[in-house]
Amino acid sequence: RPKPMIDPFGRAVSYLRVSVTDRCDFRCVYCMAEDMTFLPKREVLSLEELDRLCTAFIEKGVRKLRLTGGEPLVRKNIMSLIRSLGRHLDSGALEELTLTTNGSQLARFAHELYDCGVRRINVSIDTLDPQKFKAVTRWGDLAKVMDGIRVAKEAGLAIKINMVALKQVNEHEIESMMTWCHEHGYDLTMIETMPLGEINEDRTDQYLPLSTVRQRLSERFTLMDIPYKTGGPARYVTVEETGGRLGFITPMTHNFCESCNRVRVTCTGQLYMCLGQDDMADLRAPLRASEGNELLSAAIDEAIGRKPKGHDFVIDRERNQPAVSRHMSVTGG
Ligand code: GTP
Ligand code: 5AD
Ligand code: SF4
Repeated sequence: RPKPMIDPFGRAVSYLRVSVTDRCDFRCVYCMAEDMTFLPKREVLSLEELDRLCTAFIEKGVRKLRLTGGEPLVRKNIMSLIRSLGRHLDSGALEELTLTTNGSQLARFAHELYDCGVRRINVSIDTLDPQKFKAVTRWGDLAKVMDGIRVAKEAGLAIKINMVALKQVNEHEIESMMTWCHEHGYDLTMIETMPLGEINEDRTDQYLPLSTVRQRLSERFTLMDIPYKTGGPARYVTVEETGGRLGFITPMTHNFCESCNRVRVTCTGQLYMCLGQDDMADLRAPLRASEGNELLSAAIDEAIGRKPKGHDFVIDRERNQPAVSRHMSVTGG
């Protein structure tokens, strides 16, 4: 097994998030503007290039690979990439191959995903109210997502629901979402909204600290901290009354950068060492420059060597500027 890559702060980089497309069939209000310009196809890495890239990282000690987007399942022929990457699970080089999806295409792909070695997926749902779902995602259809989740469960995939906590939008639905998730055997992870990219609304109106959420939930439920770890940034509790698991991702109120183990690549092959910083390294040029991986490998090492300590997100009305100008859909979270 390769030695893990170590960054300047002594953190091992074992988790790679790869955005396979910047496109999405939804337009979530906290993620995208309604009118988005997407990248021309030639800018985007081919599936073969994505495979080479992921493989290079795995050879450098990455053990957990997550495909993101945009919406990963809207990328044409995405299953051929996922099937091919599955070989690294078979060889034991990779511990987990997974994806974060909006669920719109799950009914079609869930069985095949399982067949490729995927065992667990994260599905973003911010509300169980069909009208509100439409309002948050602009273009999404909750019924289709629900059907997708049902098929995914049947296929044997473990499911975690991601819910971005949004003041005035879904803050009063957290309890019902949790109950629903736990009834069906899904984990639920709450996420604080992060200031990424220009959106059409004011983020200070949407931001809800999870300390408040936790406080409110503890009035009705018994939350017990547990050491459960997925390799992601969430901290988990079990809820005594439901027997289910609840995660908190708190980039704003409780920074978790100290234990960061991940980097992300955009669909054009740009390596971002931190979600909340502008610094990146272009991996597409070395990838395309030769068939061998020496240049690519050197570029990765060089970039990991300057992974920053953490983000400096702030959400406030005075500085109503996103911390970084790129949208969440570019780096895939
Ligand atoms: P698990 O494997 O289930 O733990 O998934 P995950 O939390 O790693 O991945 P997911 O795609 O579900 O991400 C959930 C949220 O966590 C997204 O909103 C991400 O943007 C956020 N997130 C993941 N990694 C980081 C990070 O390094 N920094 C920040 N600020 N947010 C992150
Ligand atoms: N802040 C926090 N989470 C976000 N997501 C998308 N945009 C944001 C944002 N600005 C979430 C999605 C998905 C995950 C990958 O990131 O809901 O669950
Ligand atoms: Fe699409 Fe996900 Fe962004 Fe929503 S949050 S618009 S589903 S990429």
